[in-house]
Amino acid sequence: MWRIIFTDYKASFSPSILALEPPMTATSLTLIQPDDWHLHLRDGAVLSRTVADTAKQFGRAIIMPNLTPPVTNTAMATEYKARIDAQATGLMPLMTLYLTDHTSADDIRTAHASGIVKAVKLYPAGATTNSAAGVTAMANAYDAIATMEELGMPLLVHGEITHAEVDIFDREKGFIDSQLIPLLERFPKLNLVFEHITTKEAAEFVQSSSYKVGATLTPQHLMYNRNHLLVGGVKPHLYCLPVLKRNTHQQALRDAVVSGNPRFFLGTDSAPHAQGAKESACGCAGCYSAPAAIELYAQVFEELGILHKLEAFASLNGPAFYGLPANDNTITLVKQDWQVPASLNYAGDTIIPLAAGETLHWKLQD
Ligand code: DOR
Ligand code: ZN
Repeated sequence: MWRIIFTDYKASFSPSILALEPPMTATSLTLIQPDDWHLHLRDGAVLSRTVADTAKQFGRAIIMPNLTPPVTNTAMATEYKARIDAQATGLMPLMTLYLTDHTSADDIRTAHASGIVKAVKLYPAGATTNSAAGVTAMANAYDAIATMEELGMPLLVHGEITHAEVDIFDREKGFIDSQLIPLLERFPKLNLVFEHITTKEAAEFVQSSSYKVGATLTPQHLMYNRNHLLVGGVKPHLYCLPVLKRNTHQQALRDAVVSGNPRFFLGTDSAPHAQGAKESACGCAGCYSAPAAIELYAQVFEELGILHKLEAFASLNGPAFYGLPANDNTITLVKQDWQVPASLNYAGDTIIPLAAGETLHWKLQD
């Protein structure tokens, strides 16, 4: 179900007509409520901000487990979910476990049986924020991954190798060749999500793979490339991991969403850090996109002339990959210029949202 209202179009239309006959000026866009298939909410006092920002647009969200300490077992995931639910926003958190060298097959069975843990997250140790307890060698996780394959539980992968000698811009490509392909050859029935892809190689791999591979795409990797991060001075609020790549990779990601391939779906990787932790001698990785996430995606899809493909990307492809129904309700965006706030309160501290101060052309209706 999708519905776009046009000011200057008189007859009825179908997606194929839309694909053939841009440009038309839509003024309102009603979508099945989207979900966020990759989200960091953090914990404690900031939950009131982070959960509410996501809940105003998304029905469900896959909640990343890289807390301190990480969410490594079902009891921790259950307690974390209760703290999110206590915000009473209506957001349905779909919990994940943090895979370590010591996660056992029994840990996976317990998580699956709980019904609240929907997936398991693989961070190569040292790849990103709070990944020190991650997997040091893939073989250490084989028992857990074999059990996930048996149960049909998705493995969510931060796809970067971590060897010091590998250039940071080549770490995703290196992961595909040295880790991902061998992993899928060993576990050919595994449901795997290649998270926050950033390169042409990753997009092509997902598109052409004969395995059960999906991928999430973030707003920042669709909107920006490394020039935005580095030209004219370092922009710490655009620093995330995997890091923004050159513009040809950004274009490949935009082509991936234009393709409409259902393996690609929305995952913001919204990852809040207070302003001081970003604007620092050692700035944290992560972009806080939750306050305007669906509007940011709408802006990209409009630029690409594919607004009619937003609903599948945001609301249908993710549930289909996870074997879940789409949401019952809808959200509406209206064509209206508004400015992303320059800063927001973050439990008494300050946070700078992605695209702070920029004018967006679509606004979520309350
Ligand atoms: O930029 C990132 N921030 N990438 C990640 O993988 C983790 C995240 C975070 O938790 O801050
Ligand atoms: Zn993430």
